[in-house]
Amino acid sequence: MTPASAYPPGRRIAPSILSADFARLGEQVDEVMAAGARVIHVDVMDGDFVPPITIGPMIVGAIADRIHAAGGIVDCHLMIERPQAQVGEFARAGADSITVHAEATAHVNRVVHAIHDCGCAAGVAINPGTPVAALDAIAGDCDLLLCMSVNPGWGGQSYIPSSTGKLAEIGALAPAAVLEVDGGIDPETAPAAAAAGSDWLVAGSAIFGKPDPAAAYAEIAAAAGAG
Ligand code: DX5
Ligand code: ZN
Repeated sequence: MTPASAYPPGRRIAPSILSADFARLGEQVDEVMAAGARVIHVDVMDGDFVPPITIGPMIVGAIADRIHAAGGIVDCHLMIERPQAQVGEFARAGADSITVHAEATAHVNRVVHAIHDCGCAAGVAINPGTPVAALDAIAGDCDLLLCMSVNPGWGGQSYIPSSTGKLAEIGALAPAAVLEVDGGIDPETAPAAAAAGSDWLVAGSAIFGKPDPAAAYAEIAAAAGAG
């Protein structure tokens, strides 16, 4: 049994809590889980790989149990330098899947195996300016490949149109891995990303930036043909 066997099947919208109301984070997670979400995306930023500082393992620990109890998984996206130093903490906090950036470590192979050694599924992400070839040597060891469709750091940016072609290229590289797209996903951009083969579509501001996150979730899911 591989750690990725915990992944929910089919195409999924993955709400990013980056855009949630942190004063009532648990409630917001419950709302999207009740609407059908099974992948909760956690954007971890260190003020170094990207300028903002956001979420650490304590927040993952605060919400992991309720996500698991509702049948979901915690999808941690580490936008941090030296990710190898942190994967253990996120795994202990309740992460099911941990994704690191190819640009953030000279030892991506070692980090992917360290994530597996912690019992988690492992993903590798690339920025919009990074060629798909950066994934060539590691794709076969990954449970998930993440194509950034904005430059990481902030929610609410516009989808970069060239991401669609890149998604198809990444999908062809590792058909067995989950293909995740992250940034600028809304009911207008989701169909193209889905048609290019995206399995998981991360959406932050288009869900939690709306007055009714559950309704916004349903709208994106319908547009993407996702559960
Ligand atoms: C960007 C993050 C994204 C972000 C997406 O650096 O990795 O996950 O939350 O936000 P939206 O959906 O608002 O573009
Ligand atoms: Zn993300």
